[in-house]
Amino acid sequence: MSSQSFYEVLSRRRDVRAEFSGEPVDPAALRRVLAAAHAAPSVGMSQPWDFVVVRDPVLKKAFRDHVLEEREVFRDGLTPDQASRFAGIRIEGIEDATLGIVVTYDPSRGAPAVLGRHSIPDTGLYSVCLAIQNLWLAATAENLGVGWVSFYREERLRELLAIPDHVRPVAWLCVGPVTHLHAVPDLERHGWRVRAPLESVVHGDRYGQSAEWPD
Ligand SMILES: Cc1cc2nc3c(=O)[nH]c(=O)nc-3n(C[C@H](O)[C@H](O)[C@H](O)COP(=O)(O)O)c2cc1C
Repeated sequence: MSSQSFYEVLSRRRDVRAEFSGEPVDPAALRRVLAAAHAAPSVGMSQPWDFVVVRDPVLKKAFRDHVLEEREVFRDGLTPDQASRFAGIRIEGIEDATLGIVVTYDPSRGAPAVLGRHSIPDTGLYSVCLAIQNLWLAATAENLGVGWVSFYREERLRELLAIPDHVRPVAWLCVGPVTHLHAVPDLERHGWRVRAPLESVVHGDRYGQSAEWPD
């Protein structure tokens, strides 16, 4: 693959809510996407992730009902102006997407001597997020959409999918074929947030100091 097509996949990747077609996912493509996730770097090579592939419509509906409750909890904390903008924004495509893929973090994997985690326990979670990003990009390359849902309480999702107590659910990913991917993120299209200019997040030598840029 040329570096150009890699960057093209990066910029085509979107968080998907409303564009899932509900068509089947090719099993070979699903395997490649999960293998890409499992190829991610991880602290001490702990590979602390697991992937629960959810197809059962009963489980999807139960999870969506919980997410809609949490949507209300979030909405109740908004100003009237924010609440009116939030009202038009979808936050999930759980029942529309062909699959749910729940990605979990098991801190006991490779423990106690996880090389590189002794001073920063969060490195375990960082590793799981890298697996998720690999999954997201591979899915985009396979023309599948992914939508990350985080409007849930961990204990509810743990209970729903029989996840052991010491394992943390990190994401419910809605995954499946899509009709199209938007060029602009949903939150930007709805006037919620815009992507900040690159220059505003790159610093030179010290945090807060502006960086020198090549011409
Ligand atoms: C940790 C994390 C949690 C997220 N949770 C949600 C969510 O619950 N619902 C949702 O609609 N989008 C969720 N998103 C997607 C973001 O809103 C989205 O990535 C962002 O608006 C930028 O859009 P883009 O991914 O299409 O570039 C989440 C993304 C991340 C990284």
